[in-house]
Amino acid sequence: MKISLRNRIKEAKEFVQKRTKLKPNIGIILGTGLGALAGEIKNKSKLAYKDIPHFPVSTAPGHQGNLFLGMLGGKKVVAMQGRFHSYEGYTLEEIAFPIRVMRQMGINLLIESNAAGGMNPNFRAGDLMIITDHINLTGSNPLIGPNDDSLGARFPDMSEPYDEGLIELTEDIAIQERIRIHRGVYVGVTGPNFETRAEYRFLRLIGADAVGMSTVPEVIVARHAGLKVLGISCITDECIPDRLNPLDLRYMIRVAKEAEPKITRLVKKVVERI
Ligand code: HPA
Repeated sequence: MKISLRNRIKEAKEFVQKRTKLKPNIGIILGTGLGALAGEIKNKSKLAYKDIPHFPVSTAPGHQGNLFLGMLGGKKVVAMQGRFHSYEGYTLEEIAFPIRVMRQMGINLLIESNAAGGMNPNFRAGDLMIITDHINLTGSNPLIGPNDDSLGARFPDMSEPYDEGLIELTEDIAIQERIRIHRGVYVGVTGPNFETRAEYRFLRLIGADAVGMSTVPEVIVARHAGLKVLGISCITDECIPDRLNPLDLRYMIRVAKEAEPKITRLVKKVVERI
């Protein structure tokens, strides 16, 4: 018989808690090329996803598969170095499973980072964007299926998926740190192909500033679980339909790597000030 979602979460949580006494308050997901923040976590335990019961395994380029628990900016954190995407063949529920495990471990805030294509003409490759809202264009939803009321409501509210106070705090810190930052709407798609010119035009038209292949299913489950969310995108390419260059993943990973020290500094300061 298939083990229930609640029991799978429990088994994964107990596996982690047998290996570390740390009870994290903040969860962090490190996206494409942004794994270096893990290096800033002090006194950490490292667990490979492949060893954790029911955890998926990352196969995406630029994504490692480790869970870190330790101290960052004086706070107890759990960080995922590498995430899961729909294009790898995982269901949206599988993608979001680790968020439910981190929730049971005790987090009340999730910090998301990702690489995204910039469609707002003011955005430059290498800029950062604080996510103020999102559009779910994956064609599915991680909450489809029977709802376990002990995990969250059947019809969760989405009027403020990204916490206003954290958006303002992050923007203030970025300005103090002289980091070029924007606010914007992130649209989540499945990939794996990058968009056509007509699709970029469409995504811009429906109100998005940046597009990417992650984050949205994770945030839906985080909100279902009652977590506060902060999302930061690294703009890795400029997706202006009338001057679109062929996209090159190696170039995008390089842009994300170059922006990594900025995001690391920003997230660390935000965590310190929370
Ligand atoms: N499209 C979709 N996902 C992305 C992009 C893009 O242009 N850039 C980085 N992730």
